[in-house]
Amino acid sequence: MSNFHEERVLSVHHWTDTLFSFRTTRDATFRFRNGEFTMIGLRVDDRPLLRAYSVVSTNYDETLEFFSIKVPDGPLTSRLQHLKVGDPIIVGKKATGTLVLDNLRQGRHLYLLGTGTGLAPFLSLIRDPETYERFEKVVLVHGCRQVAELAYGEMITRTLPEDEFLGEFVREQLIYYPTVTREDFRNRGRITDLMRSGRFYEDIGLPPLDREHDRFMLCGSPQMLVDLKAMFLEHGLQEGNHGEPGDFVIERAFVEK
Ligand code: A2P
Repeated sequence: MSNFHEERVLSVHHWTDTLFSFRTTRDATFRFRNGEFTMIGLRVDDRPLLRAYSVVSTNYDETLEFFSIKVPDGPLTSRLQHLKVGDPIIVGKKATGTLVLDNLRQGRHLYLLGTGTGLAPFLSLIRDPETYERFEKVVLVHGCRQVAELAYGEMITRTLPEDEFLGEFVREQLIYYPTVTREDFRNRGRITDLMRSGRFYEDIGLPPLDREHDRFMLCGSPQMLVDLKAMFLEHGLQEGNHGEPGDFVIERAFVEK
């Protein structure tokens, strides 16, 4: 029996020369928890070529959505970036990952810190009503080099607050904090520096890091994860994983190798 479902591409959106997202059909039996990733890819020379991708859509959506970088000579993304509506794509039957609500202890503020395509799992979590039931405030940080890379910004600031079911949660509890490092923008700098200087907390109007109340999910480049983890351990926060909920959980953003 195959480990994959054969799906079809329903739409493709190119954000920049290096970032795109796409939607596919979803097999009715495919189950996942918001924040998890699965293996997706293409058949190349009759063999599956797969990489791990966080699911952008939520477990209640009828379709699947993924957010990807384009690596010019990356084995998978050099092909994926040419996807067209109707093309076949394979999606693993299993999903997994540490960025799930159950891996965090009870808290007051949930910080979702993503750089680049590390935003993906959080797009699912900010559309999960349970996220808002568990936390008073949900702060989504997206760090990018350039303003154009702040994908999904319109969806977060315009579409979601008007959503029939989620709108009220989003308007009252979600704080979106995009920040850019290599050109001018209202929020400028690496998230690590903004947290250390206190600027970040001033901007969002919440108190500085407090291990009693703050919980974190991280998804991004390896060095960003190393730096943030060191900061959290200094503050006495504990890392969580399956079976042992903690104050923060970590996942590497997808990188083509
Ligand atoms: P910077 O421009 O200063 O490197 P990338 O495109 O390389 O994945 O980076 C995405 C964003 O993450 C960029 O804004 C980048 O800032 C930032 N970043 C890279 N390394 C770190 C780190 N160690 N801590 C915090 N942010 C980082």
